[in-house]
Amino acid sequence: MSSPMHQDKRVDQAAVTDESLMAAHEKLIGKQPDEKAHYKLAPLALLFLFSGLIFFGGTYLGRFSGHFHPKVYNEYAMPPKAGEVAAAPAVDPVVLGKAVYAQVCASCHQPNGMGLPPAFPPLAASEWVASEERAIRIVLYGLEGPIKVKGVDYNGVMPAAGPGSGFNLSPEKIAAVLTYIRQEWGNTSGPVTAAKVAEIKGKEGNRAAMKVAELEKLP
Ligand code: HEC
Repeated sequence: MSSPMHQDKRVDQAAVTDESLMAAHEKLIGKQPDEKAHYKLAPLALLFLFSGLIFFGGTYLGRFSGHFHPKVYNEYAMPPKAGEVAAAPAVDPVVLGKAVYAQVCASCHQPNGMGLPPAFPPLAASEWVASEERAIRIVLYGLEGPIKVKGVDYNGVMPAAGPGSGFNLSPEKIAAVLTYIRQEWGNTSGPVTAAKVAEIKGKEGNRAAMKVAELEKLP
């Protein structure tokens, strides 16, 4: 590459050309004692090792992760014995009803069922709670207009809580909350079934809030 002229030691430094400089560098490059300028074998091997491990990990999780379902790794799970039906644990309607009451009704009728006169009537010892037919309809569709509860006049609006309303309580939850209020705070009426709530819902369909005059026709 280099011309014989540039190898002449007497050549003027100022006259050194790019070409001769490159030639000089070319010679030096091979002799550089700079170890870091080369890839060492060890990091390369580690790169392959970790790539392999990540690939293995991904494949392993793909096969055995069970889609990360929380119940997949239940080491105490036992297969059901032959003939044993895995019955869902029955929910105590009073427990469920208490929860629904706290969530939906207590803000108005108060946790102690005493209401907040003159705005919200009491449920404790209320003649309306004692009537299954009336109480179911009140919770399903709400209530508006004047009403007398335990001799006190109220005239407010109770929102509907049945299916399709803002609270959207299922017949099961309505039955549970009524069962709860009918045996709480000294009340002694019997439980209400979801079937009875569903039956009344089927009979009345979708309708506006109940009026006292309508309720009074019911038992
Ligand atoms: C936003 C407040 C509010 C909520 C929530 C509410 N109520 Fe009422 N409730 C009222 C008002 C107000 C009346 C009286 C309506 C009237 O004056 O016509 C009433 C009346 C009643 C009555 C008939 C009167 C009585 O005191 O016995 C019953 C029964 C009743 N509510 C049960 C419930 C149940 C059960 C729930 C929960 C599922 C509930 N209410 C949720 C405000 C509410």
